[in-house]
Amino acid sequence: MSRVLLVIGGGVAAYKSLDLIRRLKERGIAVRCVLTNAAKQFVTPLAAASLSGEKVHDDLFSLTDEAEMGHIELSRWANLVVVAPATADLLAKAANGLANDLASTLLLATDKKTLFAPAMNLRMWLHPATRRNVATLTADGALFVGPNEGEMACGEFGPGRMSEPLEIVAAVEAALKSPTALPLPAATKPKGPLAGRRVVVTAGPTHEPIDPVRYIANRSSGKQGYALAAALAALGGEVTLVSGPTHLPDAHGVTMRRVETARQMLAAVEAAMPADVFVAAAAVADWRVASEGGEKIKKQGGRTPSFALVENPDILATIARRKKARPALVVGFAAETETVIEHARAKLARKGCDLIVANDVSPETGIMGGDRNTVHLVTPDGVEDWPDLDKTEVARRLAAAIAARLAGAGR
Ligand SMILES: Cc1cc2nc3c(=O)[nH]c(=O)nc-3n(C[C@H](O)[C@H](O)[C@H](O)COP(=O)(O)O)c2cc1C
Repeated sequence: MSRVLLVIGGGVAAYKSLDLIRRLKERGIAVRCVLTNAAKQFVTPLAAASLSGEKVHDDLFSLTDEAEMGHIELSRWANLVVVAPATADLLAKAANGLANDLASTLLLATDKKTLFAPAMNLRMWLHPATRRNVATLTADGALFVGPNEGEMACGEFGPGRMSEPLEIVAAVEAALKSPTALPLPAATKPKGPLAGRRVVVTAGPTHEPIDPVRYIANRSSGKQGYALAAALAALGGEVTLVSGPTHLPDAHGVTMRRVETARQMLAAVEAAMPADVFVAAAAVADWRVASEGGEKIKKQGGRTPSFALVENPDILATIARRKKARPALVVGFAAETETVIEHARAKLARKGCDLIVANDVSPETGIMGGDRNTVHLVTPDGVEDWPDLDKTEVARRLAAAIAARLAGAGR
């Protein structure tokens, strides 16, 4: 599910942002709102909370908010930050890196693209200061929608009317189609052992449609794969994370590719190649229905439908057995409910990969969807048993093991 952090500024057009929340939600996009102090003169936090179904944030120094979700986390939660209405004041703050309230601090701290929907009096819009600020923000990679020309609340006519909610929705949808993560400035890129190495990680489940409303899925949360992607990025890797549908925010410092089905996942992985390392942590559905229904399948008076299943592509084996440009290190995950090590050994040989991270996902372990994991590293040389650890710690150790193996491979 895509996530938008909507910053509502203090302009008359703020009332349209309430409709914008509804329109985004209708399209399955989760929305969290931040109101500036001035915005609260135009719309109430209660209206924004009711429409978004989420807590509204308006105070940088709220102890409760910081305990629940700090301002930095909030700035990273979204796939895209939208400022609507973007006041002259917010544009000026964002262009100059000011951070003296929650909204401006989020705009400075976010690692995602920002889409501004300006709204202001035409003199304010045409003022050289605003022109300079818009030019600066554009050069910094910010996106803009509008403003439109028309009659304004102040009675004047000209450019400055905020785009209509559906125009903003279209701009949001277009922005979400391309990567929204902002690259780290070169000087701050981590210079760890994976610097200059390209890494592709898959995570989460896949959803295989049965008809337009039903799908085959599994209980994978994606937590381990996301944590591993972030840990590999922290070691300097240029990481692409191809994720099935999850409820997790984008992993920090990685390029996200969100997909639904196994076939889309394979296509996204192939598109991200060549890579030095491939880690297949996703719980890819083994099968999909042979023919997906174009319409919702109806009950048939007591007769139950039966579905023929076909096998999905084997993403791990496809990459591990590449003739050309095979990644130097291919790592698979084996989620088993019995004889974990034996199955992992067999998988290692069958798929042609270099390392299998095996874990027991029987319901009583609580591993699938949980925060802890007990893994075994299976290589052609033997098995390493790791203790029960937090998934982020498993990720940190795995990333270190991957970096060491890559260095050892001398490639
Ligand atoms: C009735 C009224 C309407 C306003 N409309 C706008 C507007 O459309 N655009 C704008 O940039 N500022 C507008 N302002 C001025 C902003 O509210 C003011 O610059 C405020 O400091 C903006 O704060 P913010 O950017 O933190 O939301 C308006 C002010 C008033 C009193």
